[in-house]
Amino acid sequence: MSVVSKVRVGSPIREADQIVAELRRQGKTITSLSIGDPATYFKTPENIIDAYVKALRDSKTSYSSSLGILELRDAVAKRQTRLYGGSLTGNEVLVTQGASEGIDFINRALIDPGDTAVLFRPYYPSYLAYLNLAGGRALLANYSEESNWGVDIEGLERAIKKAPKGKKPKYLMVINPNNPTGTVLKEEDLKQIVGLAKKYGLLLVSDEIYDEIVYNGAKFTSVSTLAKGIPHIIINGASKCYDSTGLRIGFLIIPEHDRVSVAIRERIADIASIRLCPNTPSQYAMVEALNNVDEHSRAIARMRDEIAARVTFAAEMINNSEHMKTVKPDGGFYAFPKLHMGKLDIRSDGEFVTRLLQEECIQVARGSGFGAPDHIRIVALAEKAVLEKAISRIEALCKRLSK
Ligand SMILES: Cc1ncc(COP(=O)(O)O)c(C=O)c1O
Repeated sequence: MSVVSKVRVGSPIREADQIVAELRRQGKTITSLSIGDPATYFKTPENIIDAYVKALRDSKTSYSSSLGILELRDAVAKRQTRLYGGSLTGNEVLVTQGASEGIDFINRALIDPGDTAVLFRPYYPSYLAYLNLAGGRALLANYSEESNWGVDIEGLERAIKKAPKGKKPKYLMVINPNNPTGTVLKEEDLKQIVGLAKKYGLLLVSDEIYDEIVYNGAKFTSVSTLAKGIPHIIINGASKCYDSTGLRIGFLIIPEHDRVSVAIRERIADIASIRLCPNTPSQYAMVEALNNVDEHSRAIARMRDEIAARVTFAAEMINNSEHMKTVKPDGGFYAFPKLHMGKLDIRSDGEFVTRLLQEECIQVARGSGFGAPDHIRIVALAEKAVLEKAISRIEALCKRLSK
């Protein structure tokens, strides 16, 4: 009998990290396009760093409230209302150690063994992992690649109906803008999703961590503007739009005041108290990041424009290949091409990714880890010259594998 749980977990984004470390030890130069970390490529704004250092100098090194410091909860509420309207207060905000911890908390708070939740496929892997760890099972609805990863609303309704009789799914979740597809959901599609949540009485969870990294004229709509009167949770944080992955700060916004929303806030607060608190100096750094709107506007505009140029460059180069094709992303910083597997002498995207690393020294993530076999996820944050070389090497491997 094994001592460890049988639930399979782990991140497809980081699964080759040990091999990469070993290859580097052997002297190989590996280009890693696997982790979506803007702070590796764009320097975190000075005002955030200064605020972090000041917090340390001011001895802000003790535990904070489990829910997060009030100043930060208020700053999150202010940002949300500034961008999306409404009348949120800090009382409806909880601070977590990265959005990842927020995802974990939601599942711990809601899921008992045997419960279900509705996720879209392709999904960000942590959603499935945390759901499974809590003993839950995913009901998967597919985005349609043929219609630019748009929502198949009938498919979504079919997924909802797959829940066991008398046991409705605990939540329905969307990631918008999406990781890994880079899609920004049309307002019409979001309205239909919100409509189904209302029809079936489901809690909506919306991960909006890329909300300010939107380009090509796409328009982002927050679920909070459409789901008034319906229980919902918005997930956001410091990592992407504030270019501060290592600060490990996330936010859970649970705005409504119905019985369900209040119960969820209380349950998550109880869970949060077990892990004591999020990193204290990081919280003070984030107060500055959120409240200094001028600095942020400058920083995000610069980063967004550069990301848009890099992602678009990568997508165009991919689409010039005979061996793969990607939907052009409008948000986030990923390209998610489909490999033309029928033309390649290879069994799976996993095998492709392993050979790409071993033979071409390029690390990307396998699409099957996101629920989309035959795809690969390329983080398109590096400078164009790096992306060009990396995609050329992917193409070189495809050519060698070509049947
Ligand atoms: C959609 C999505 N949600 C959450 C996270 C995790 O964010 P954090 O760094 O705040 O834990 C990521 C990171 O890539 C992500 O893409």
